[in-house]
Amino acid sequence: MTDLKRALGEVVEAAFAAIGAPPELGRVTPSDRPDLADFQSNGALAAAKRLGRNPREIATAVVEQLAGDPRLAAVEIAGPGFINLKVASGALSERANGLAADPRLGAETVAAPRRVLVDYGGPNVAKPMHVGHLRASIIGESIKRLYRFRGDEVIGDAHFGDWGYQMGLLIGAVMDESPAIRTLVEAANAAGAAPADLSPLEAVSLADLDRLYPEAAAKGKADTDYRDRARRITAGLQSKQAGYYALWERFRAVTQVALERDFHALGVDFDWWKGESDVEDLIGPMVTELDAMGLLVDDQGARIIRVTRDGDKRELPPLLVVSSEGSAMYGTTDLATILDRKRQFDPHLVIYCVDQRQADHFEIVFRAACQAGYAAEGQLEHVGFGTMNGTDGKPFKTREGGVLKLNDMIEMTRDKARARLREAGLGEDMTPEEFEDIAGKVAVAALKFADLQNFRGTSYVFDLDRFTSFEGKTGPYLLYQAVRVKSLLRRAAAEGFDQGPVTVAEPAERDLVLTLDAFDAALTEAYDRYAPNALAEHAYRLSQAFSKFYAACPMLSAEPVVRSSRLTLAGATLRQLELALDLLGISVPERM
Ligand code: ARG
Repeated sequence: MTDLKRALGEVVEAAFAAIGAPPELGRVTPSDRPDLADFQSNGALAAAKRLGRNPREIATAVVEQLAGDPRLAAVEIAGPGFINLKVASGALSERANGLAADPRLGAETVAAPRRVLVDYGGPNVAKPMHVGHLRASIIGESIKRLYRFRGDEVIGDAHFGDWGYQMGLLIGAVMDESPAIRTLVEAANAAGAAPADLSPLEAVSLADLDRLYPEAAAKGKADTDYRDRARRITAGLQSKQAGYYALWERFRAVTQVALERDFHALGVDFDWWKGESDVEDLIGPMVTELDAMGLLVDDQGARIIRVTRDGDKRELPPLLVVSSEGSAMYGTTDLATILDRKRQFDPHLVIYCVDQRQADHFEIVFRAACQAGYAAEGQLEHVGFGTMNGTDGKPFKTREGGVLKLNDMIEMTRDKARARLREAGLGEDMTPEEFEDIAGKVAVAALKFADLQNFRGTSYVFDLDRFTSFEGKTGPYLLYQAVRVKSLLRRAAAEGFDQGPVTVAEPAERDLVLTLDAFDAALTEAYDRYAPNALAEHAYRLSQAFSKFYAACPMLSAEPVVRSSRLTLAGATLRQLELALDLLGISVPERM
């Protein structure tokens, strides 16, 4: 089922072609002046230039071609040759009935579905997830849902950072702090076998890692001996020395629990909870193969791949494949992961939803992958994003200056959501469980919508007061609107009022149907540009259009025929709004 805008676009394009003008100039867009028209086409000016004719004359010729189309109530020429289209109410009614009967609410599927892997979240084991991972999780989850909904076969992979230098740093720090663990790890390393008694390792908690990591990272920067030791431990871990490996497994276990909790609270889920460590077996053979291809170059004891190309505006550093200590690096595991995914899933497209500041890293890895023949040009796509900033314009930190942990942020937002709900007098008649469930949904909606309403490249300021407000362009506002429609429909059902065929009459009804009509265009834009903000914008417009409709068009008190038409519109609006929100990763409570 094509949307009205596209259908009319085709007609106008054909009319341009019929008078000898390039059809693409007939492009139809929503009108800048909704009071005068629904759609417009400005192509007559460009066509006039091309054909050396007068623009009004061209517009007139096009308008003649359109005459008699039953979908158009009026076609007018404005100014120097803008064509204004007003859709006939009958066509709007028909479209509304089509949308209401469509389980996909007007959303198309892609003509040629692909296998798509979305790499997002990217938390690091042994370090709690911080707000830097918040955006990756929110945007990635939405892109995954959107691609899947459009018909692609999609896998979401968390790609834990669990195999690099930070592991060496932490293993060293834990051993420094606990003589018992040191003895156990060293003995297991020497024996080449896992420790028989793992119980001393069980004392290591996430809080310990949390506390030790920043210290160790700082020391590693300041003290070269400390850093070199961490690198040696990293190499030892990567060659699976039994003691290091056992301690590392403990890190992984304690982190997993917290990660699952945080992701769950955010409404984020993965199909593959894989990590960098999952490709460790591939790295050795890959290095051998890269060497055989002649891609590896020795560089002061390290092995690198040069990736510069003719025409580069600046020099990209090489990919560091093996460090001088013999460790695999961040880029090495990314390269091996490309191979792994190719073997496991053979994706047509891999989308890396990762901070924009890693743009060079990905460019380097992608070029190396193409050189090695592990991927084709254009198959690997870094979808970067800006930062979430504090009011100082720098990446968000706690008042003490540390990075805020994701769990703390979620808790903080929930607190605020609870307070907002109480302020609004909501929840008094609810069980504590229901109230908590709603507060959780409000918190997630607040965080996600605040993020997704901006184009991902834009950085934004963290402002919990604004994010959680029930007014303005916020997640809670959208939930509130959706809940309002739900309760209206419940009341109608309780009265025994049915939904029936739509007959569009009032301006607010026209506007609502035109907004519903624009769903697929928003989805297409979000899909093509990896830009969930297009969908967020649509959800917002839809709730605004509904709000106007609700104010202008009484429902329960209207004549039965009018009432059933309006109830159908309300029902379709609710389903489309819930669907759009779901694709943004936001779920709507039954009531608020
Ligand atoms: N763990 C990384 C970080 O915290 C992000 C991983 C992103 N994905 C990837 N394939 N490199 O920065």
